[in-house]
Amino acid sequence: MLSHTLHSEALSVEIRMLGAALNRVVARTAGAEVDLVLGHADDADRAASTYYLGALVGPVANRIANGRFTLDGVTHQLATNDRGNTLHGGPDGFSTRPWTLIEAGPDAATLALGWTDPAGGLPGHLAASVTYRLRGNELSQTLAVASDTPTLAAPCLHPYFNLAGSGTIRDHVVAVRAGRVLFTAATSIPTGPPVEVAGTPFDLRGGVRLGDVMDSDHPQVAAASGLDHAFLLDPGDGPAAVLTDPASGRRLEIWTDQPSIQVFTGVDLSTDAAGLGGVPYPDFGGVALEAQQVPDTANRTEFGSVRIDAEHPFRSTTRYVFTLA
Ligand code: GAL
Repeated sequence: MLSHTLHSEALSVEIRMLGAALNRVVARTAGAEVDLVLGHADDADRAASTYYLGALVGPVANRIANGRFTLDGVTHQLATNDRGNTLHGGPDGFSTRPWTLIEAGPDAATLALGWTDPAGGLPGHLAASVTYRLRGNELSQTLAVASDTPTLAAPCLHPYFNLAGSGTIRDHVVAVRAGRVLFTAATSIPTGPPVEVAGTPFDLRGGVRLGDVMDSDHPQVAAASGLDHAFLLDPGDGPAAVLTDPASGRRLEIWTDQPSIQVFTGVDLSTDAAGLGGVPYPDFGGVALEAQQVPDTANRTEFGSVRIDAEHPFRSTTRYVFTLA
């Protein structure tokens, strides 16, 4: 079984076993079908991609500086895959593995993975699972990771959205409930304390057109050729992030129990492997909104902990609520 598709009256959702990936979210609107996420036509393209389109990334999402961390007094060196850092679980992370479908129905599916990677350097044997549920216009995913020995785990789903179904996301409007953002060094590792967004192009709280942010001459935007930053979520009611395509009226709300959302506007996406249409997506052809732990929490105790052990597994739920015009 390479894939499983969930159906509701409004959406069809294709999940690939490779990387437990959310590969397609197809909406039937006004007689037409629109794919609201970026995906790949086949697993060969997915395996060749370095953009993690819809993949479940882990064991630890985002970057661990220098691939190094100290756990219970012992320093560990992980395999690195991104300018000397470990990104999204490293070269053999969750997104590279075939997951097993253990429960499948028309509106819910659970995939599981037993993971161990002595060469990659992360201690422990992990038992990971993800459950996708589709109800009407709402898709949720619940991630769980257990380990018999102390180790690190904080995976996340890495979907890219384009609510227009084609073109770039420059005219999409994004709102993120975050008063603080992390600025990064040249290797995309967050440096320094969180920065207040007020008065900067990073203030997404009221909703901003992505093209306007991407055209800003702020040095952090210029260095990333757009956004590739972790927004630290403020407590509060309502969704953590809202994405809108004003032209179609389609809208997405993201609700999560995670403390941050990485917003990545897809620079150089055209250099990646082919997408669903058999050709690469254009640069800025989708925006990744990744609900996850704060980057490099493994080395930044002020952001919390990504340590798990037999008594403290990882568990997280994120919900995507679509409004289809
Ligand atoms: C993002 C990451 C980016 C880039 C992208 C995939 O999560 O922050 O720097 O690596 O994934 O290519």
